[in-house]
Amino acid sequence: MSALFRLRPSDLRTRIVGCRIEVYESLTSTNEFASRLGREGAPDGTAVFALEQASGHGRFGRVWHSPRGGLWCSVLMRPTFAAQEMLLITAVGALAAREAAAHLGVGDARIRFPNDVYARGRKLAGVLAESRFAGSEPEFFVLGTGLNVNLCAEHFPPELTALATSVQIEAGRETPLAVAARTLLEVLDEWYTALRDGAIEEIVEEWRNQSDLIGRRVRIEEESRAVEGIVEDVHPLDGIQLRLDAGPVARIAPDRIAAVRLG
Ligand code: BTN
Repeated sequence: MSALFRLRPSDLRTRIVGCRIEVYESLTSTNEFASRLGREGAPDGTAVFALEQASGHGRFGRVWHSPRGGLWCSVLMRPTFAAQEMLLITAVGALAAREAAAHLGVGDARIRFPNDVYARGRKLAGVLAESRFAGSEPEFFVLGTGLNVNLCAEHFPPELTALATSVQIEAGRETPLAVAARTLLEVLDEWYTALRDGAIEEIVEEWRNQSDLIGRRVRIEEESRAVEGIVEDVHPLDGIQLRLDAGPVARIAPDRIAAVRLG
């Protein structure tokens, strides 16, 4: 059983992310807790970790399985850009989770649209950006990252054993959670700083380069229908450009996409 780890802002080489760090044994959800800190006025870059979450969640309210051994983290963000660019926060979260996994020894970690990181066809990490509005303006965002670090096959529920993986499985060794946490916050700081500086093209280009869908046959599940075809392009704001089996090219917006399955 992992012990509470210590990580201080002075341990980090960051500008914004991790300026304040809180680590807990157990929380309902680090996203919910970070949101509470946001309402109380915590600064941009505040990071919250829990060794386990009782009600970790993902997109569309899906359950995020969060036992001890994983890295369950949320970062409070107070950027000053338009609300629709929340999708870019998801993008920088996916970039950071992918890059952190690579630094921790995962060989071929790739981004799976829009918010997952996969290795050898199995899910390694997921990110979830949530927002709180003051009127029509976003007051703050919370970027949650779940990275399966020291989890083995037996930690996953039976329905996930064939679908999920971890840093431990991929890299063949355990990683101290403090090391994983520092790595994630440092790479996230790089990408978040780029976002704040307006380096949107650089973010989109790298996100596209790290995507594992271009040229692949997929089945895209929307809430009420599914479409199949070959992915021609992906973009964090515009969605997936799909050459449908029926012939024409469809552009499917990010908020319509519930799941992407490889065909
Ligand atoms: C997804 O796959 O849809 C995203 C999963 C995001 C899970 C992380 S774990 C830390 C943070 N707290 C939560 O409740 N969710 C995110």
